[in-house]
Amino acid sequence: MERTFVMIKPDGVRKGLIGPILTRFEQKGFKLQEMKLMRIERDKAEQHYQEHREKAFFGELVSFLTSGQVCAMVWEGPNAVAAARLLIGHTNPANAAPGTIRGDFALEVAENIIHGSDSAESADREMELFFGTDAKPGIPSFDVDELDSYPAHGTIH
Ligand code: GTP
Ligand code: MG
Repeated sequence: MERTFVMIKPDGVRKGLIGPILTRFEQKGFKLQEMKLMRIERDKAEQHYQEHREKAFFGELVSFLTSGQVCAMVWEGPNAVAAARLLIGHTNPANAAPGTIRGDFALEVAENIIHGSDSAESADREMELFFGTDAKPGIPSFDVDELDSYPAHGTIH
């Protein structure tokens, strides 16, 4: 199953949109794999948007991304990268269709609420940047329910 990296940007967090955005992804059928509310350093913001380094708006973009908390997430589902971008909508919210996240919650390109990876390769890179090996599928994590299957402390066999 494919995974994609999604990040609610500082304007989305400030506007109280974490809940509505989680709801849209869950209603669509995506499964949440990782989520972290965090502030990011300039260096991480620059690495995240490295493909835009030469753009005139790069400095503004990085300052914006570091201006408050972001909510970093990994979502899983069939064709997750493309499907998430459809939910998110056009880069410029003024052109984003109603019903999409940017179409419903934003009007300006510089503050467009949310990021979604643009390819499977970008998703891998961004998941590594924000979650390290945690976001990789197939690595077992500790499951509290499994405790029941372990013998109680001190049990003699
Ligand atoms: P992301 O999911 O955030 O990567 O957006 P995108 O993939 O739809 O668009 P793209 O990667 O081309 O642009 C990255 C981000 O740069 C956009 O989401 C915008 O927030 C920002 N951006 C694009 N154009 C402008 C601009 O003219 N001015 C400013 N300030 N920001 C811009
Ligand atoms: Mg992009």
